[in-house]
Amino acid sequence: MGRIFDWIDERFRVKDPHRRFLQRPLPEGVNYLYCLGGVAFTLIIILLLTGLLLSLYYVPSEKEAYQSVLRITREVRLGRFVRSLHRWSANLLIVFIILHTLRVIIHRAYRAPRELNWVAGSLTLVVAFFSGFTGYLLPWDQKAYWATEVGTSMAATVPGIGRQLLYLLRGGPEVTGTTLIRFYSLHVLWLPLVMALLLWAHFHMVKRQGISGGL
Ligand code: HEM
Repeated sequence: MGRIFDWIDERFRVKDPHRRFLQRPLPEGVNYLYCLGGVAFTLIIILLLTGLLLSLYYVPSEKEAYQSVLRITREVRLGRFVRSLHRWSANLLIVFIILHTLRVIIHRAYRAPRELNWVAGSLTLVVAFFSGFTGYLLPWDQKAYWATEVGTSMAATVPGIGRQLLYLLRGGPEVTGTTLIRFYSLHVLWLPLVMALLLWAHFHMVKRQGISGGL
């Protein structure tokens, strides 16, 4: 194993940054509460992997979406397990992001020079909420349909641009197959891309500024 790793290291130089990472000094008072952000990130990786697997069987069309989710749950090997893992991870992600935010508030880690990291973090929370909302429609059952009907109709109450926003989200005046495709595209492409960019900025700032100490 060691020889194989050395062969890879000679070509990719993986050891050096890893060593720098492990030897980075940490402030005093760092404890398990500082793992909450890492747990949220682990959940995002699980969501990505299970989402990739689900996309092999899910069909984002008005006619087939519901049946394809039933097939995943009842017929595909480990389908129910992968789907449940995806749903649980999505719910837990929101819980852990909120816990991580509370840790940041309690330790007052939002103060200078970390204000921008607070903003980047808050935006990831918004993206996580929208990912959950768009994912909720994908099973295309009654619960999903009516939740989206109610959720998107809230957009219509925004002063001035409400109607345009509603049409933009639904792809028309009603929740239809066009809405399903729009939500699918947001859920698997647009939102993960924005999330990746925000997390890159978030981690870059954590690396450059270092972790703040305790209270
Ligand atoms: C998917 C969402 C998020 C992930 C994966 C994530 C991940 C992380 C990680 C791994 C760290 C370093 C270790 C730690 O403090 O836990 C961190 C630090 C930080 N995060 Fe997040 N975070 C997320 C969302 C948020 C949110 C919603 C906020 C605030 C509204 C936020 C604000 C911060 C700040 C200010 C720091 C620096 C803390 C310090 O230096 O003590 N993050 N984040």
